[in-house]
Amino acid sequence: MVKKSGVISAIGAISRNNMLGLAGWLPWDIPEELAYFEQTVAGGALLIGRLTYESMEVVPEDSFIVSRQRDLVLRPGCKRVDSVVQGLVQASATGKPVFVIGGASIYAAAWPYCQRFLLTRIEGIFAGDTLFPESIPLAQWSVVSEIKKTYLEKKTGQAVLCRFLQYEQAAPLALPDL
Ligand SMILES: NC(=O)c1ccc[n+]([C@@H]2O[C@H](COP(=O)([O-])OP(=O)(O)OC[C@H]3O[C@@H](n4cnc5c(N)ncnc54)[C@H](OP(=O)(O)O)[C@@H]3O)[C@@H](O)[C@H]2O)c1
Repeated sequence: MVKKSGVISAIGAISRNNMLGLAGWLPWDIPEELAYFEQTVAGGALLIGRLTYESMEVVPEDSFIVSRQRDLVLRPGCKRVDSVVQGLVQASATGKPVFVIGGASIYAAAWPYCQRFLLTRIEGIFAGDTLFPESIPLAQWSVVSEIKKTYLEKKTGQAVLCRFLQYEQAAPLALPDL
């Protein structure tokens, strides 16, 4: 996939029952889906919610962590931002493609500014505690590509269909001058 600077994309994966997370991590164990995520965001500037940030083993440089905690201590290469919009403005200023990687509250606030949503639909039902926000009107976006792959889900030992979808939003909001 071509990585265009200036483009703001959201990226995430959800199950058929709209789950995003379980106990601070993903509800499923599908290494190939995780590898797709890592390859896609490599070289980008990331916007990350504080809980998602804390769940990640490796956080690349030019990561912007959304948190209200002014005294938050972060790993090298990471910067705290007060709000999603502030994070999007600062991530865009790096000149790199911007990826909004969640969690739920970050997707919910960032989607109006996103040109693309790279969403993997994992066609299984999984237990979880974090839902994909219902407020994101993806049904009104265009699906511009879809790739289907079947992988082994390692917790259940079952094969699961993964649909790698790229949605595009016709008229995303412009970022404000902060
Ligand atoms: N399936 C996927 O693709 C995917 C993607 C990402 C995450 N996840 C999963 O989702 C779960 C975490 O998601 P989550 O929604 O619970 O948490 P999150 O969005 O990662 O982080 C929430 C935190 O972000 C900060 N925050 C959120 N909105 C803010 C705002 N408007 N202004 C300032 N700060 C704000 C707050 O931090 P402070 O409390 O520090 O103020 C809040 O506690 C985990 O299980 C993770 O593994 C899944």
